[in-house]
Amino acid sequence: MGKKIEIHDFEPKIMAFVCKWCTYSGADLAGTSRMDYSPNVRMIRLPCSGRIDPQFLIKAFEQGADGVLVSGCHPGDCHYNEGNYYARRRNTTFRQLMDFNGIDIERIEFSWISAAEAIKWT
Ligand code: FES
Repeated sequence: MGKKIEIHDFEPKIMAFVCKWCTYSGADLAGTSRMDYSPNVRMIRLPCSGRIDPQFLIKAFEQGADGVLVSGCHPGDCHYNEGNYYARRRNTTFRQLMDFNGIDIERIEFSWISAAEAIKWT
């Protein structure tokens, strides 16, 4: 007999695609400040949230991610001026596409997290 998996044993696999300037630095601050955050988050650092291609998210789901986080600099703080605005627009369209295909859009989270927002990251 196999081991029965209880619902409270479920640990979702989360892929986080983050901008290196803000969100990654915020996560780094959380780590250096010894804040606890979930170990089931796998982070992929990119130069800007504008570089996060929707195909990365599709690939993450294909590879078994239960949820995906896209995060970058706050509006007006993008180091490449408009990358985060492109990311926000892509996210809106991608969510509609996911919804159209019957995939729960609650599995995708979009957030602005600055380098000083370690608590928000955790
Ligand atoms: Fe951070 Fe563009 S540099 S979102």
